[in-house]
Amino acid sequence: MQPLLIAPSILSADFARLGQEVEEVLQAGADLIHFDVMDNHYVPNLTFGPMICSALRNYGIKADIDVHLMVRPVDSLIGMFAEAGATMISFHPEASDHVDRSVQLIRQAGCKAGLVLNPATPLHYLDHMLDKLDYVLLMSVNPGFGGQSFIPSTLDKLRQVRQRVRESGRAIRIEIDGGVKVDNIRAIAEAGADMFVSGSAIFNQPDYGQVIQAMRQELAQ
Ligand code: DX5
Ligand code: ZN
Repeated sequence: MQPLLIAPSILSADFARLGQEVEEVLQAGADLIHFDVMDNHYVPNLTFGPMICSALRNYGIKADIDVHLMVRPVDSLIGMFAEAGATMISFHPEASDHVDRSVQLIRQAGCKAGLVLNPATPLHYLDHMLDKLDYVLLMSVNPGFGGQSFIPSTLDKLRQVRQRVRESGRAIRIEIDGGVKVDNIRAIAEAGADMFVSGSAIFNQPDYGQVIQAMRQELAQ
């Protein structure tokens, strides 16, 4: 198993002081930053694009930026995000007309590539793609909003993805996104995740370091 990574989602950060928020959460022990891109088309909400990503780089943020594209179409944004400083880019396969091409575009742009599966998206999307991916992102809520509750059936799906990754023999990471908190992170890790996105559970508390430390304690048990 690779090191377990905590990826705060800036969806729940204070956008008016985003640079400082990202700096603070990294100083508080976050491993990387999760960047939720919503287009009011694929999902019913609207967030931010490549300009905000490059603004964070210009501000001096050096950590990995894990761009989660909840957009349709996908391909035109890939190069723009790579240019803006993204290091990981994932997308929802049902939002792309040519999934293999989108993955190739991400890798050609020099980023790690991930496929995102919604709670109701079947695992067969991985059938011909798993060997070409750096990570699989499993949604444990329906995409579009922070602060939703973890959908328990995701744990079983997670175990199945872990099994498939094990069989592949490749170091493909499994990221979980939605409703991750101190009190469920351990069960999620036991089911097979090794990257944990968490937005509201971290940013809605005054002391980010305390939450991240509590999560790491749970993970260490
Ligand atoms: C939902 C986003 C998530 C979300 C996580 O569409 O992809 O990254 O912001 O937020 P919490 O941890 O609050 O569920
Ligand atoms: Zn996300």
